Amino acid sequence: MTARRVVTIAGDGIGREVIPAAEAVLRATNLPFAFVPAEAGWATFERCGTALPAETLQAVKECGLALFGAVSSPARKVPGYRSPIVALRRELDLYANLRPSLSPPLAGVRPGVDLLLVRENTEGLYAGRERREGDMAVAERIITRTASERIGRLACRLAMGRRRRLTIVHKANILPETCGLFRDAVRSASVEFPEVIVEECLVDTMALRLVTGPEAFDVIVTTNLFGDILSDEAAGQVGGLGLAPAANVGEQAAVFEPVHGSAPDIAGRGIANPTAAILAAALLLEHIGQPGAAQRVRRAVWRVLAEGPRTPDLGGEARTRQVTEAVLAHMARDGASL
Ligand code: NAI
Ligand code: MG
Repeated sequence: MTARRVVTIAGDGIGREVIPAAEAVLRATNLPFAFVPAEAGWATFERCGTALPAETLQAVKECGLALFGAVSSPARKVPGYRSPIVALRRELDLYANLRPSLSPPLAGVRPGVDLLLVRENTEGLYAGRERREGDMAVAERIITRTASERIGRLACRLAMGRRRRLTIVHKANILPETCGLFRDAVRSASVEFPEVIVEECLVDTMALRLVTGPEAFDVIVTTNLFGDILSDEAAGQVGGLGLAPAANVGEQAAVFEPVHGSAPDIAGRGIANPTAAILAAALLLEHIGQPGAAQRVRRAVWRVLAEGPRTPDLGGEARTRQVTEAVLAHMARDGASL
């Protein structure tokens, strides 16, 4: 069998600490993978003047699969800097960002949550159309029927493989043009899926309901910024950012990443939780049609969450490496008993 090439973009901060864990887990599946390291992020920008070198973009185009760690993006305008993950999503038309939230077997964490947030990934307020006009700043929010129908169709397809409920999140009472178009386009795409029950929820109400009753939701579909915010909120209900993976999926390529950023407050200390990156590797396995291997990874992760060792974000004292080794050990045992 020819090896599947996977580009590994560790990025900045804890991205460099958690991507090796995801890579080790993919190697431990014994499936034929070949890893192609590539650069992106703030350190890359400082060195070569671009945060996403052309070779990195080309490598992801050629391989069609990538693991992305995290990058540090300045919270101020830096001429020439553009967030590489946002650029990758746009350049490769990775139109869907899939963010599952599942209750882990951890004491003190809310049980019973099993939802999938489907976020439109190429437009909305992240379309990059922002400008300053004197003392006024303007950001354009771009919503197209094509992109909204496309994400709506995918969300319905995913709901068909789950509990067949779809919640469209918008704010069409205040933004009737942009949110109204999004809502109507998703609704018209959903007509092709009569078995999917479709409901709507305003984004502020959804923010509340994710706190008070996240168990009620199956698939949630929304626009780019709302999805970014709500998925962090959902992650907070099921163990935090250290556990939350994401898939950026398009027709030609898919990029898998932990939801978290570069975590400068803990970077370089070897204590980042590798679980989100490892679960992102499980999403990659599912994407390439290896659900058995993905389940083997998840079973091992769930065992480690239940029994330890755990990193400090989950109240433990373990280091990144110890958690990774424990996951690999469970995978080896699981594989041996097949
Ligand atoms: P962050 O996700 O990096 O960190 C938020 C908090 O969660 C911190 O206290 C951090 O220590 C903790 N945390 C995150 N991941 C963890 C893990 N795996 N294990 C243990 N603790 C973890 O978000 P923040 O601090 O808002 O942003 C830091 C930098 O990351 C910024 O430059 C931001 O632009 C960037 N960022 C990059 C993203 C990406 O590359 N996809 C996504 C979000 C932020
Ligand atoms: Mg985010």
